[in-house]
Amino acid sequence: MTAFDQLSGANLDAAVAAASRSRILAPWSVQGHLPGITITGGRGAELWDHEGRRWLDFTSQLVNANLGYQHPALVAAITEQAATLTTISPATANLARVRAAEAIVRHTPAELDMVFFTNGGADAVENAIRLARLATGRANVLSLYRSYHGNTGAAIVATGDWRRIPNEFAWGHRHVFGPYLYRSEFWATTEAEESERALRHLDHTIQAEGPDSIAAILMETIPGTAGVLVPPPGYLAGVRQIADRYGTLLILDEVMAGFARAGAWFALDLWDVTPDLMTFSKGVNSGYVPAGGVAISRPIAESFAERVFPGGLTYAGHPLAMAAIRANIEAMEADDVVAGAARLGTEILGPGLRQIAATCPLVGEVRGLGAFWAVELVSDRTTREPAGPATMAKIAARARERGLLILTVASRIHVAPPCIITPDEARRGLAILAGVLDEVGREG
Ligand SMILES: Cc1ncc(COP(=O)(O)O)c(C=O)c1O
Repeated sequence: MTAFDQLSGANLDAAVAAASRSRILAPWSVQGHLPGITITGGRGAELWDHEGRRWLDFTSQLVNANLGYQHPALVAAITEQAATLTTISPATANLARVRAAEAIVRHTPAELDMVFFTNGGADAVENAIRLARLATGRANVLSLYRSYHGNTGAAIVATGDWRRIPNEFAWGHRHVFGPYLYRSEFWATTEAEESERALRHLDHTIQAEGPDSIAAILMETIPGTAGVLVPPPGYLAGVRQIADRYGTLLILDEVMAGFARAGAWFALDLWDVTPDLMTFSKGVNSGYVPAGGVAISRPIAESFAERVFPGGLTYAGHPLAMAAIRANIEAMEADDVVAGAARLGTEILGPGLRQIAATCPLVGEVRGLGAFWAVELVSDRTTREPAGPATMAKIAARARERGLLILTVASRIHVAPPCIITPDEARRGLAILAGVLDEVGREG
C-alpha cells in the first residue's frame, strides 16, 4: 500500500500534484512554476479530478484528443488488440498495422499511398526530412520561423520558434517568414499582398541559398502552435509551384491540423495542394496510444525498392496504436466528424469568438476554422502590443476556476476543443470565455 491509497478527493489531487512536481521533469517549463491541476478521468469533452471538479476542455490537451476522452470504440479496439497481441517488431507484417495504413491512405491525397510509421509527430518530421534528403541528394531544409515541428534533432532545428535556439545542433536548416497579415513582415495591407510578398521572399531565399542545396520546403499546412496562421488564398499553391520550379520536395506537416481539426480530413484538402510527403500524428488516433507517421508519394517510396531505407524505431507501428488508429478513423467516418468540425467552426466557434472580439478590447484578432482557432490578445488595439504573461496567466486561472480549460500560447488563446464537442458545450465554453475576458479587460 502506498501513501496515495490512504487518500481521496482533494487530498489525493494535492498529493498527486506535489509528487508529480517532485518526481517528474515537466516539458518546456520552469519547474518551480507549474500550474497544479490533477486529472483523473474524462469522457467526451469533459475532464475531472479525484475531488469531482469538472472541466470542459477547450484544449484537446496538446490539440490531439480530436475524438475526446474515452471514446468507447477506441477503448474497445485497444482492449481487443491487447488481448490479441500487444507488441510485434515494426518490419513484421501484421493485420492491425495494415488496417491502420489502409484507413489512413483512404484519406490522404491519392499520390500519397504509402505510410512510414513513427511514435509521434517529431519523429514523423525527422523521417520526412530524411526521406527528402535521400530522395534528392540535397542537404538543406527550408522551414518557417513561425512553426513548431517537434522536439528531436532535425525537427527542433526546423522549428522556427524559441525552442530551436537552445537546441540548435543539427545542420542544413534555413528559415523564412510566412504569411501573417495581422503582424505582417512584408508591410502588406491585404491578404493578396501578404501572400504574394511572402512567396517572393521564399523564392528569393531559395535563390540566395542556392536552389540545388534545398532538399525540401517543410511547412505546417496551418502553422498551429505559432498561432493558427491560416494561409491566405494562393499561398500554398504558390509554394508548390516554387518547389516544382527548383526540384525541391514539399513536406506538409499535418501533425496538428490533420484528422478533422481544421474541418477537413487534412488541412491541405482546403487548398487542394498535394505535397510529396505529409506528416501526421495527434488526431490520427486522438492520442490514445502514441503514434505518428509519414505519408509518402509512390516515386519516393519506390526509390527504396533496391536500397536500404536507413531509418526505423522499435515501437513504430505498435499494435495498440494501430488498433486505435483504425478505430479512430472508422469512428470519424461513421459519425462524419469532419463535417461536424467544419460546422462547429462556421456555426458556433467562429461567430461566437467574433462576437467576443466585437465587444472585448483585449482581443486584437480572431482567426481559424473548424475546431482550430486562435484569439490574439493585445494590451492596445492600435499598436497591437501583445498582452503580457501576467494577463494570460490570469485569464487561464479564471477560466479554470469556472470550469473551462483553455490553452494559452504567448499572447494567444488557442481554442481547440475535441471535434466531437456538442454545440451546447461549445456555447457554454464560449460564454465562460466571454465572461473571463470581459472581467480581465475591465481590470486593465
Ligand atoms: C505541427 C507539429 N509537428 C510536429 C509536432 C511534434 O509532435 P510530437 O510532440 O508528437 O513529437 C507537433 C506537436 O505539437 C506539431 O504541432
